[in-house]
Amino acid sequence: MVEESAPRTAFVTGGGGGIGSAICQSLSATGVRVAVADLDFKRASDTAKSCEGFPVELDVMQPISLEKAASDVEAEIGPVDILVNCAGWERFMPFVDTDDEFMDRVLEINLAGPMRVTRRFLVPMISRGYGRIVNIASDAGRVGSSLEAIYSGAKGGLISFTKTVAREVARNGITANCVCPGPTDTPLMKEILGEGERADRVLGAIVKAVPMKRIGVPEDLGPAVVFLASDGAAFITGQTLSVSGGLTMA
Ligand SMILES: NC(=O)c1ccc[n+]([C@@H]2O[C@H](COP(=O)([O-])OP(=O)(O)OC[C@H]3O[C@@H](n4cnc5c(N)ncnc54)[C@H](O)[C@@H]3O)[C@@H](O)[C@H]2O)c1
Repeated sequence: MVEESAPRTAFVTGGGGGIGSAICQSLSATGVRVAVADLDFKRASDTAKSCEGFPVELDVMQPISLEKAASDVEAEIGPVDILVNCAGWERFMPFVDTDDEFMDRVLEINLAGPMRVTRRFLVPMISRGYGRIVNIASDAGRVGSSLEAIYSGAKGGLISFTKTVAREVARNGITANCVCPGPTDTPLMKEILGEGERADRVLGAIVKAVPMKRIGVPEDLGPAVVFLASDGAAFITGQTLSVSGGLTMA
């Protein structure tokens, strides 16, 4: 008799956002049970409804919030096999116009937050001898991006952090990889660009620069994450995969 293996469990930060929500749907479609973790509980709940997931409130900047979210998820749906760090935040600004408050926020949400969440879930993954970590970085972290100096630094840091964790836990059955979206049509992108003639001009210039002549949609990202989170990707670790229509070929 063939024993049926238990479904895998995923914890997706920023799971209520544009890209995070699409990742939750894609994972769920392959039978993974998904914990949808987001600062915005309404967004998390809406996503969870659409993928039979478990919504949980999480602020990646707050260790107490992280511990509560993590232990609630473990109690409700079991230990986490797959961690997707997708929560992120950004605004366009010349570097010389930024201040420390802005810098702290960008670094906390995009770099320290994912580090904190990774450490929380890595410990039980090591004990169980299995784990898949997929960090959502950005092409900005690979090649830089004007008006995004601190964000680029945070995402570049996330990429090298991921490689180091990948090296440290490779022998424990755990992989860690990054997926880098290019410009993608999400609420974050809309907030960054704003509205009006200038926003249309910037968007037009971005589309022109993309070899595939369009910006991404959240659904472009799900399959890459599903692949890296799968059992079949067991021998792939420390890698960085751009999903950006050819914009970045680094
Ligand atoms: N949209 C793009 O063009 C683009 C490009 C490159 C990389 N990315 C990255 O993709 C990821 C998803 O971005 P998106 O475009 O879907 O944005 P989004 O704003 O639609 O989603 C981000 C989600 O993160 C949540 N979040 C913000 N701060 C949080 C915190 N402190 N704790 C927990 N959750 C928090 C938000 O509530 C939101 O639901 C981010 O890491 C972003 O940096 C996006």
